[in-house]
Amino acid sequence: MGIIERFNELQPEIAEWRRDIHSNPELLFDVHRTAALVAEKLREFGVDEVVEGIGRTGVVGVIKGKVAGDKSIGLRADMDALPIEETTNLPYSSKVPGKMHACGHDGHTAMLLGAAKYFTETRNFAGTVVVIFQPAEEGGGGGREMVEDGMMERFNIEQVYGMHNMPGTPLGHFAVRPGPLMAATDTFDIDIEGQGGHAAMPHDAIDTTVVGAHIVLALQTIVSRNVDPLKSAVVSVTTFHTEGQAYNVLPHTTKLTGTVRTLVPEVREQVEKRMKGVVENTAHAFGAKAQLRYIKGYPVTVNSVEETAFAVGVAGQVVGDEQVIADTPPVMGGEDFSYMLEARPGAFVFVGNGDTAALHNPAYDFNDELIPVGCSYWVRLAEESLPLA
Ligand code: NI
Repeated sequence: MGIIERFNELQPEIAEWRRDIHSNPELLFDVHRTAALVAEKLREFGVDEVVEGIGRTGVVGVIKGKVAGDKSIGLRADMDALPIEETTNLPYSSKVPGKMHACGHDGHTAMLLGAAKYFTETRNFAGTVVVIFQPAEEGGGGGREMVEDGMMERFNIEQVYGMHNMPGTPLGHFAVRPGPLMAATDTFDIDIEGQGGHAAMPHDAIDTTVVGAHIVLALQTIVSRNVDPLKSAVVSVTTFHTEGQAYNVLPHTTKLTGTVRTLVPEVREQVEKRMKGVVENTAHAFGAKAQLRYIKGYPVTVNSVEETAFAVGVAGQVVGDEQVIADTPPVMGGEDFSYMLEARPGAFVFVGNGDTAALHNPAYDFNDELIPVGCSYWVRLAEESLPLA
């Protein structure tokens, strides 16, 4: 029986795991139920070694091939959900108010479990497959914690691969590119201090609402006037809070927050530096004081060239070359798989979820029809990378 046939057969069972995880979403590192379910399944399949608690609540499974070998490959899925109230009304929709699997990590986890089951049934490879289930992709840096926990060395992982579903891309189509695929995701706080006062006597005050408004506008010039037009950057101010509560009081302080997205380190440094200058000097021009706190988040997700070409070839075997885009444009969203790609060569790929609601949307649902394709990709990636002969 071929791989895809076997996964067509396993699809209802894998979809059942997926829906069970979907009904019980957990946030960040608090994925205790999901991680326990993953570990239990891996043991049930006969995975050679199952280790829990890597990167706090991450789970790693080690599967030996039918032929011993020095080579190894790491395959990674994420397990965490989002603080969103689900609106799908599906029979298996979230049982937890305010939490939902709106990014399809339920599907990623189920597909990697499906692949692990197949690996233990067949072991058609020489060497070691390491299946990695990480917590806290959505902002907590679970990938970083697993790497800092020594996962790569401990399990002797030589190369590492990740996969994310993509709504709006036709079902089972792959999209990837060598080099930067997803952005560095930084955040910032700007604290402005002026002089509060009576709104009818602005000449006796330093109005931080006006200062804040000028800073928001001035920040727009960093992308339009400072960054090389052939490079990419996003500076978005997302909140603007004055301390004011009344119609007739000028606020003493105002606070802005937002996010910065970039694809190369030089632009990341440039934006941070320019922001500091713009924020402090704009405030200064109005007689106010402002302070920028720039917080570096996930680094750029950079696919290594050779491993990306390899992933493209494998995806082509699974779905046909005409359904694989090998030079998709980068996106300004972020991914903490970037920490694993900083530690080892590998590739992160997008796979089409079909015509569903967008990621992080309350109406989103992972497409279970994707399961045979995603599982087959994992299996072929390992078998091609660790060939028997
Ligand atoms: Ni995601």
